[in-house]
Amino acid sequence: MLNQINSIEEYNIAYKASIENPETFWDEIANTFVWRKKFSSVLEWNFTEPKIEWFKDGKLNITDTCIEQHANSTPEKIAIIWEPNDPNENFRTLTYLQLFTQVKKCANVLIKNGICKGDKVCIYMPMVPEAAVAMLACARIGAIHSVVFAGFSAQSLRDRINDSSCKLIITADAVYRGSKLIELKKIVDEALLQCPSIKTCLVLNHRNISTYMKSERDKFWNDEMQNVSDENEAEIMDAESPLFILYTSGSTGKPKGLLHTTAGYMVYTAYTFKNVFNYKPDEIYCCTADIGWITGHSYIIYGPLANGATTLMFEGIPTYPDHGRFWDIIDKHNVNIFYTAPTAIRSLEAFGTDILENKNLSSLRVLGTVGEPINEEAWNWYFENIGKKNCPIVDTWWQTETGGILISPIAHVTKIKPAFATLPLPGIQPVLVDENGNEIIENNVEGNLCIKFPWPGIARSIYGNHERFKSTYFSDYPNMYFTGDGSKRDEDGYYRITGRVDDIIKVSGHRIGTGEVEDAINMHDCVVESAVVGFPHEIKGQGIYAFIICNKETADAEKIKNEIKIHVSNLIGSFAKPEKIQIVTGLPKTRSGKIMRRILRKIADGEKEKFGDISTLLDPNIVEKIISEKK
Ligand code: PRX
Repeated sequence: MLNQINSIEEYNIAYKASIENPETFWDEIANTFVWRKKFSSVLEWNFTEPKIEWFKDGKLNITDTCIEQHANSTPEKIAIIWEPNDPNENFRTLTYLQLFTQVKKCANVLIKNGICKGDKVCIYMPMVPEAAVAMLACARIGAIHSVVFAGFSAQSLRDRINDSSCKLIITADAVYRGSKLIELKKIVDEALLQCPSIKTCLVLNHRNISTYMKSERDKFWNDEMQNVSDENEAEIMDAESPLFILYTSGSTGKPKGLLHTTAGYMVYTAYTFKNVFNYKPDEIYCCTADIGWITGHSYIIYGPLANGATTLMFEGIPTYPDHGRFWDIIDKHNVNIFYTAPTAIRSLEAFGTDILENKNLSSLRVLGTVGEPINEEAWNWYFENIGKKNCPIVDTWWQTETGGILISPIAHVTKIKPAFATLPLPGIQPVLVDENGNEIIENNVEGNLCIKFPWPGIARSIYGNHERFKSTYFSDYPNMYFTGDGSKRDEDGYYRITGRVDDIIKVSGHRIGTGEVEDAINMHDCVVESAVVGFPHEIKGQGIYAFIICNKETADAEKIKNEIKIHVSNLIGSFAKPEKIQIVTGLPKTRSGKIMRRILRKIADGEKEKFGDISTLLDPNIVEKIISEKK
């Protein structure tokens, strides 16, 4: 389908062409997809409003490219392999033809339940093939899906449903993650107490546990799927029609719903999937992300399926039933391409290599990482023990906002270097800027990472708040998209992402805004004020460190700390729980009342002396005090 880059010379040619003449470059690539009507212009854009339109006037339905063409040409090819949480249960497969039939039926179920083009549908599902079917069924009828990670609390789910006024929610009775049963429908019921826009709740009976079903509102997935036809005409969509909303944390305020549109996202995820992973037809590809995050959207569902690939969905966790589970899956399904997060690698590395002795990993050809910086030690461990020094690691840098991978080695093409995301993909023009906003031209430098030209997969807006989209990404540096990340660039022009330069922290690759955690902590009765920062964590990359001021002398500090942890889990989700909590008598504030987080970050990191200039603090003595109060 798409041209594939097979050597560094071809990369150089493609990169040059994509910069000198981006429209011709993307026109050629876009032409290899299924269109109902060809586009009239490739790109119209400005980064001031900002307004970005790719493939204007083009008409399509993304399921034509992702499913129907393969259901016609290779109906028996496996689209999805599903590996259950419990390895003793049977795995399942869906061929392209079966997937197509399921998606058409589910599309009819949605229509029957009053969902029309442009309506929003929330998906709060475990990692099961029905989640993929639900997303693709939305796309088929032009409904906009909003997948919410099924580890979020009822409160977080409710906020997301209400922000985009979803009309229908799809969930499951329950799911096992490892040995823990999570009753998803109960969480949904709690959320729906205050979600007036939801008219229908579809419930997949996944674990067969008895479930409360509210009459009129709640319907079983299986009953509904049985009673509809498998004939369905796809809705014809504009290239720029919204495809999905995906909520992610910002440095301030509530999570924002990034809005991605149809054609550009399809072209970009398909192109990057094929190239970054050097995907070959008939290979088995496995990405361990959850569909609740952008990696799941772009590189479990849309990118692989657009290429007619076989994508493996894993329901469980890396340590169940033991810490060899990932390696068992590779062995069992002969996985060729394996894509996971640095946190998972570090946590498995900690168990040692004995468990690898009887695992056959020889099917592997490409390894990937995503979501957070990878340290050299973990990179080397992955390279040597999993890839047996034969598989390149593609350290892929990107974001919810970017839709697809922007900076990454191309497997078997780019010379890899531990912990470096290396070079920009064709079409991507990264720049490093200094503190004055000037572009740094030389190599061997460090700066804030911006992108100065649009690519097809970039988000188009924040749902319901275009002003926030503009101020968050396009206002710090004129005419550039600001990523919020810092990066180094070495003598070869290779990028090494150093991490966020704002108040977002990455805990086990999960993106968490410090403000969100503070808001949750502050709702606890005993708390007057709090400040949250990230601190380096050996396994998780970063952990959450909360400094809190309590409203009364508290005899039982441990009790309060525990309560706060439970409280944050209930309000956001257990992944946002502070690892360390320190009760303090004051916070380092400037005279204008701003908390100097830079100082708190250093304290959390164990620093005792070098705090730089603290003369602007209202009370410079507070720094000493907080250090002495630290246990
Ligand atoms: O800080 C970067 C980090 O993850 C952020 C984006 O998070 P999210 O929107 O949740 O998307 C994660 C999956 C694409 C980035 O701003 N990040 C992502 N990939 C890498 C990374 N940091 C270093 N190296 C990476 N490969």
